[in-house]
Amino acid sequence: MDKNQALYKKAKQLIPGGTQLLSKRPELHLPGLWPTYYQKAKGCRVWDLNGRELIDTSYMGIGACILGYADPDVNSAVKTSIDQGSMTTLNCPEEVELAELLCQLHPWAKMARFARTGGEAMSVAVRIARAFTQKSLILFCGYHGWHDWYLAANIASIKGLDGHLLPGLMPSGVSRKLRSTSMPFAYNDTEGFLKLIAKYGPQVGAVVMEPIRNFHPEENFLETVRRETRKHGIVLIFDEVSSGWRLTLGGAHLKFKIDPDMAVFAKGISNGYPMAAIIGKKDVMNAAQESFISSTYWTERTGPVAALATIRKLKKYAVAQRLIEIGTRIKEGWMNAAKKQSLRIHVGGMEPLAHFAFEDKEPAVLKTLFTQEMLGFGFLATTAFYSSLAHTDLDVEKYLKAVNQTFGVLSRAVGSTKPQQFLKGDVCHSGFKRLT
Ligand SMILES: Cc1ncc(COP(=O)(O)O)c(C=O)c1O
Repeated sequence: MDKNQALYKKAKQLIPGGTQLLSKRPELHLPGLWPTYYQKAKGCRVWDLNGRELIDTSYMGIGACILGYADPDVNSAVKTSIDQGSMTTLNCPEEVELAELLCQLHPWAKMARFARTGGEAMSVAVRIARAFTQKSLILFCGYHGWHDWYLAANIASIKGLDGHLLPGLMPSGVSRKLRSTSMPFAYNDTEGFLKLIAKYGPQVGAVVMEPIRNFHPEENFLETVRRETRKHGIVLIFDEVSSGWRLTLGGAHLKFKIDPDMAVFAKGISNGYPMAAIIGKKDVMNAAQESFISSTYWTERTGPVAALATIRKLKKYAVAQRLIEIGTRIKEGWMNAAKKQSLRIHVGGMEPLAHFAFEDKEPAVLKTLFTQEMLGFGFLATTAFYSSLAHTDLDVEKYLKAVNQTFGVLSRAVGSTKPQQFLKGDVCHSGFKRLT
């Protein structure tokens, strides 16, 4: 009896969509066979409900656990804060310490607000920017969460958000009146961005984007965005929810030497404990006082405590450098293995968030088969590798060895008349859809 699959079957009856986060849906990886649930985790290892030990060479807590799972230093700080009371009528002093630390690390920023998840923190940032500029149109690129301001982009055209995360994100339930209140542009498309600015500049309250994600910024792209937003009095918000802490100690924008007006952190800032920070220039941030932005659990203690412990450890072990080093090896390993096995792949992403895509026929079948075969070798694996401090050189070596063997199987599948016959179950989903 497979406990993972049995529980997921039950979950789908009790929880619409099966999980709380789309990326944790097993159908996106290996329908019917992805382990789905864990009983414990340590470092880069997880144990599923059947007690099987697996090395996580996929998303490491969907990008949250840069230091590895159940990090002893972060856990110890959090446990102390729990024992001392993680919630009271008064505020925890750690939030002031964290605000000061974040402003020290990002000297252009002078104030901070806190939330607990990436998407809600992005909503807070957008609200503050709109309050500051008194203009409501948002230009954005990339993924920024599930909230109305963002999904509104898919009202005018259901394809508005395609290419920013997954195709087909439905804006059902989002007021039709929000149509055309946020509009997408593509990363590195300087011309497309300039056209939007030329058309809508005076109405734009904020430009929202990740400073880096799938591609490195092309020359002058970020500079142009900064120049134009400044010229039109538009608040520039950098979403560092996933890019932060991975290229340097703080936001990736520090590397590019482009200061935004606001930046948002979540996920990696606290290594798996709910925490998010919105930092910004003083005049912009002070607009938060003119809008009601307030929530009970934004005041609990474990989040700021986890963030302080995480940031200290990220600094102590120069973690960003290590993540880049691992990611570089992984990308090279994928390319070498593909070449050796005559597979066509495209490798991309910033090094610590490396990913690849199959370019031979039936890419979704190949992706599913990759996950299936790697699972056989004891790896939780997909077409991405989010590096963590917990991945040792030996883990990387073992992983690449398994990739080589797996790509061999994939090569045989590509050469066959029906690659799908190599699968034990269904092909993975490649977009957002309703589960039946
Ligand atoms: C860049 C970016 N922004 C926002 C979010 C949303 O964060 P959360 O899932 O914590 O709401 C994510 C999550 O993947 C992200 O990668």
